[in-house]
Amino acid sequence: MKTDACPRVLVFDSGVGGLSVAASVIRHLPGTELVYLADNAGFPYGDQPESVVVERCCRLISDSLAQFPCDVIIVACNTASTVVLPHLRAMTAIPVVGVVPAIKPAAAVTRNGRIGLLATPATVRRPYLDNLVDEFAGHCQVERIGHPDLVRWVEESVSGTDVPRKDLADAVAGFHRAGVDTVVLGCTHYPLLLEALRDVLPDVEFWVDSGDAIARRVAFLLDEQGKSGEASRDNRASEQPVRAALFSGPAPEGVAAFMAALGLSPMAVCANWPAQACPATTAASV
Ligand code: DGL
Repeated sequence: MKTDACPRVLVFDSGVGGLSVAASVIRHLPGTELVYLADNAGFPYGDQPESVVVERCCRLISDSLAQFPCDVIIVACNTASTVVLPHLRAMTAIPVVGVVPAIKPAAAVTRNGRIGLLATPATVRRPYLDNLVDEFAGHCQVERIGHPDLVRWVEESVSGTDVPRKDLADAVAGFHRAGVDTVVLGCTHYPLLLEALRDVLPDVEFWVDSGDAIARRVAFLLDEQGKSGEASRDNRASEQPVRAALFSGPAPEGVAAFMAALGLSPMAVCANWPAQACPATTAASV
């Protein structure tokens, strides 16, 4: 088990989208150490059957915990969270935090009662989303867009490829037509697209994601364990808050610089993990 004072949090996604959540966690809890785990060999989860997502998440998270014991696990992927949380909670006693599209806060801020929900095709069609809308936004008009390409554009932007603005504008044109004043970023990749989204939807007033709510939940769960992720004299914010960035496929070109720009400099980036060992996983270093 990890014994030092600095709490460690595992952040899991199918690709780089969970970095938007990791950045929120580090902003709120700069004394926390993160392990970032991306199943990019299985990306995109929006195209995978539920059983495949469940099997891959559980296996990779279990392998990661064996090498990097953690205090809290974040499934920083809406698509995976819709199906995997009960399985993970049955597998481990470590608290698991999932992500759901921020429909409730969006319903609280919208002025005109028209909300756009942007998510992956899988998230948009899962019944739990209907329940969220019925429960929290019954009085609103909710326009849903589940587009297959947005996550891919974000992954490509890591190596410096520009997001195709015209295609993005076409993808979200339904929000413009519906006159939404609030958009829920219902996939953790999308906060990384925010600048481009603002450009193509200049009339949207409120952009809502789940990052800050997750960070607050993590703070609560650490506190319950008598731990604090806030920086202190003995538990300072690290220059490199990510202990290891583990990718089940090839490491995306430019990912260390991309992470650094988000305040998430990694100590190690490991490709084809766990088939290929990560240098940061030697017993002495964990
Ligand atoms: N970041 C994931 C999410 O929040 C992306 C899903 C995918 O891989 O399709 O849903």
